[in-house]
Amino acid sequence: METLKGMKRTMNCGEIRKADEGKEINLAGWVSRRRDHGGLIFVDMRDRSGIVQVVFDEAAMGHDEFDKAESLRNEFVIGVRGNVRARSDETINPKMPTGEIEIVVTELRVLNKAKTPPFYIQDGIDVDENVRLRYRYLDLRRPEMQQNIMLRHRVTKIMRDYLDQHGFLEIETPMLCRSTPEGARDFLVPSRLNPGQFYALPQSPQIFKQLLMVSGMEKYFQIVRCFRDEDLRADRQPEFTQLDIETSFLDQDDILTLMEGLVKNIFEQSIGAEVKIPFERMSWQEAMDRFGTDKPDRRFGMELMDISDLVKGSEFKVFNSVLESGGQVKVINVEGYANIPRRELDGLVEYVKIYGAKGLAWIQYTNDGVKSPFKKFYSDERFEEIRQATGAHVGDLLLVVGDKPSVVAQALGELRLEMGRRRGLIDPNKLCFLWVVDFPMFEYVEEDKRYKAMHHPFTAPREEDIELLMTAPDKVKANAYDIVLNGVEIGGGSLRIYRRDLQLKVFEAIGLTEEEARSKFGFLMDAFEYGTPPHGGIAFGLDRLVMLMANRKSIRDVIAFPKTQSAIDPMSHAPSEVDEKQLRELSIKTAVHKK
Ligand code: AMO
Ligand code: AMP
Repeated sequence: METLKGMKRTMNCGEIRKADEGKEINLAGWVSRRRDHGGLIFVDMRDRSGIVQVVFDEAAMGHDEFDKAESLRNEFVIGVRGNVRARSDETINPKMPTGEIEIVVTELRVLNKAKTPPFYIQDGIDVDENVRLRYRYLDLRRPEMQQNIMLRHRVTKIMRDYLDQHGFLEIETPMLCRSTPEGARDFLVPSRLNPGQFYALPQSPQIFKQLLMVSGMEKYFQIVRCFRDEDLRADRQPEFTQLDIETSFLDQDDILTLMEGLVKNIFEQSIGAEVKIPFERMSWQEAMDRFGTDKPDRRFGMELMDISDLVKGSEFKVFNSVLESGGQVKVINVEGYANIPRRELDGLVEYVKIYGAKGLAWIQYTNDGVKSPFKKFYSDERFEEIRQATGAHVGDLLLVVGDKPSVVAQALGELRLEMGRRRGLIDPNKLCFLWVVDFPMFEYVEEDKRYKAMHHPFTAPREEDIELLMTAPDKVKANAYDIVLNGVEIGGGSLRIYRRDLQLKVFEAIGLTEEEARSKFGFLMDAFEYGTPPHGGIAFGLDRLVMLMANRKSIRDVIAFPKTQSAIDPMSHAPSEVDEKQLRELSIKTAVHKK
């Protein structure tokens, strides 16, 4: 095999332009594609910067050198010396940034051979994701994947620069932590030196960053891996990365404003997208009422509307029983779709059932009058009133769900997104940022018959709601905020409790006794007694953010080595069984029999 000795790379493949015409240059990279025209071989040569066409001409370079060129196959690693030549007008390729030139090779070095890869190293391949993950090192060689990784690098660089300029310190926190309740399931790590005891991998550095505020660090950030043993989805990984931030002495507005500046910088400097600040702010309640979700996609309308008052007191049993048991009847208007095929309607009934709705009804305002499964229970005038109240026109389709509020919200919220997609209402080029604020402090967990902190138990309740903590916990609102982009929660945070007495009260409200709180969070409670500043912060999901910026549907596409939906790495085969000896050292017995 040959080396690059004496032929050090002088340019990158993707960066050569018409202005470089006539230069002698050295390139290093991979064979992306090879076309043999007998005596003339064209190779698309690829490195991280892009692709350029290199030409091997037998007449010009001589037999021996040309023989080597004939041996080239896809993914061979080569170095070439050659001259930049302008392409003739007919051969210019306007689709390639380097399409106006080509490199006429004078010397070729074959640095390494390659087996035929299991899939084409090019964009837009249709290959099972398991195969891509098994050969991730090849998948990452594909230009679109390289661009995702490069974008991710730029994003974290801009984050660091912005936060540094605003006085933040990057501080690392432990990966081997104490297991704490609340939140998702922990990943545990056995301690060899302390048999029978376990560390937990951090679900986030939440407690440590608050302790750093007690330490007087004032402004902290960290780009940090977090671990949560949850069921996975397209936008969830068992290990993911947060941009984690905490500040002292700032109020909620200060924090949101600082973060808007950060987001604006990120989008403008990395992908040149224009971002208008300040972002829209909406209370959690309003988001639930109007969109049925705490992360509304604001790129289109089709808001939920309540028609309970207009349908009550009829002979229609479905709505009556819903309304009598404290439920509601709400609609979305799918404009111009009154002529929806019956088959699609039937499909939608099944669709809302996934989200717990017992059924779906509709009102079609057509030129031939109203069509609806509950037409016989209401007068024409009543349908006209509903039409006016919802702002519908003839030609529109109202989709109707009646149930308890949480089910209506989820079913119609999801149906809204689905109809938005089907009707082409969602502009992929739009960026709609939104702060959702005033979250409820607690949510009631049916199966445990107790309240649980909606964000986390260190979140500060609104000052004016503190007196409700014990009497009406469901009415307490928190100083918590989420940032939503195009219907995806990209970050969340809150002002924190910084007084010990209030923290104890909140623990009590979620059913943690002082003793339990002491055993789980004693060190935090202790710290709070030594002059804790008012503080608050936020964490962004870096993977989700970059996924949206790169226009991808899965966060796996912006993580170099992600796990599958079943939390497996098909390349290294993690997780795996371990030796008996390892287990003995850790004082661990498993209940699973080896295959
Ligand atoms: P939270 O739990 O909301 O807040 O997490 C912050 C952000 O992290 C992202 N995220 C995830 N991304 C990928 N895979 C996951 N499994 C996953 N889970 C969360 C989301 C989310 O908005 N300590 C608090 C923050 C704070 O209060 O300052 C926290 O972790 O984008
Ligand atoms: P049923 O009495 O279950 O056959 O329902 C009669 C009609 O009421 C159905 O065809 C649906 O259109 C509608 N319907 C049933 N349940 C609901 C619901 N939860 N919300 C809205 N409409 C419903």
